[in-house]
Amino acid sequence: MRRKATGRHTSSVAGSEKVKAFVPFPLPPAPPLELSGPRQTLLEKATLALGRLDSIALLLPDPQLFLYAYVRREAVLSSQIEGAQSSLSDLLLFELHEEPGVPFDDVVEVSNYVAALEHGMARLREGFPLCNRLLRAMHVHLMARGRGSDKAPGEFRRSQNWIGGTRPGNARFVPPPPNEVEACMAALESFIQSAGNAGNAKQAGDLPVLLKAALAHVQFETIHPFLDGNGRLGRLLIAMQLHEGGALSQPLLYLSLYFKQHRAMYYELLDRVRLEGDWEAWVDFFLEGVEQTAQGAVQTAKRLVDLFQQDTQRVQGEGGRSANVLRVLDTLRQRPLSSLRQLGASAGITFPTASKAMLALVEMGIARELTGQRRNRVFVYDAYLNILNEGGEAL
Ligand SMILES: Nc1ncnc2c1ncn2[C@@H]1O[C@H](COP(=O)(O)OP(=O)(O)OP(=O)(O)O)[C@@H](O)[C@H]1O
Ligand SMILES: [Mg+2]
Repeated sequence: MRRKATGRHTSSVAGSEKVKAFVPFPLPPAPPLELSGPRQTLLEKATLALGRLDSIALLLPDPQLFLYAYVRREAVLSSQIEGAQSSLSDLLLFELHEEPGVPFDDVVEVSNYVAALEHGMARLREGFPLCNRLLRAMHVHLMARGRGSDKAPGEFRRSQNWIGGTRPGNARFVPPPPNEVEACMAALESFIQSAGNAGNAKQAGDLPVLLKAALAHVQFETIHPFLDGNGRLGRLLIAMQLHEGGALSQPLLYLSLYFKQHRAMYYELLDRVRLEGDWEAWVDFFLEGVEQTAQGAVQTAKRLVDLFQQDTQRVQGEGGRSANVLRVLDTLRQRPLSSLRQLGASAGITFPTASKAMLALVEMGIARELTGQRRNRVFVYDAYLNILNEGGEAL
């Protein structure tokens, strides 16, 4: 649906150029979202897929393990949108304090993303509301080390930014002037937290959490409150809203891969909301992404469970030394990339025992040594990483 205006234009200055900045009206859209027919069907399908993901995640033998792996996969994918070139194994190597194959800044950025998400989730679990303060705290983590550290971590911007183009004058889009950011973000915060109260928030409270997350994402990107990291934080916000709104007990749905695969369309739809007031086209795109992504995550979870069962059976079939080998395999499931020292410590066995058990896994083709060194060897559970890597090309 086309709407007349979804915000107002105001004069601002970026660098030394005069620009027309855009200040979005508070959510929800007016007139309200059109939710009939096909859109309702999309919403139902996305909701069903999300419910399936939530229930399978609860039924997994080890939900924490899936969460650990999935969060890291998301961190890699989401950081790739920004251009960081690290892979999942680079991140895991870095977490092991080993040298990854990519520049420090790249892998640090991915690691920051994990830290931001973990911080946000920990606070939500403590009962802290999903508010601007929390978003700023997450931004501190996101920008803590590497390239972002000079981008005012944890602070809303104090200068005029612009998106696309080579200079402010030919920008694709100029977000609100800095002195309007606080008010825009306060309005977004009350929309996110609204639960059917008076006034404008009424429709907000009535909206299903998926639609609220869809609307809030665009609004966040339009406000572009930080100097950098708005894309990554905006994508994290979706997962957190779904969790806080009760749609997912674990933050397991991430649209980064979907946005990455349809990047041109994603940007275009953000523009269309602002220029034409077409929230509906965005919502459709978003809901399709949720359905696809949730289905994909369910498949991934199933395949991991199958893999673990198969490999356990293979080790058991070997008889003899299998108790220690199973222990090491179990540890590899927790951390698909591990050093012998770490493996021994978490499996509660000595270094030589871990070493012998690992050799058995290597002979069976389950594990592989990564470094080619004689000392400080690192082993990887290839099939596990391969399943996680699927769909993310350069992962
Ligand atoms: N035309 C547009 N209108 C509104 N928002 C846009 C537009 N184009 C891009 N964006 C948003 O801006 C984000 C990029 O902003 P920023 O560089 O601050 O974030 P990032 O996390 O560093 O980058 P990225 O999203 O590329 O990883 C995009 O992810 C997208 O959400
Ligand atoms: Mg950026």
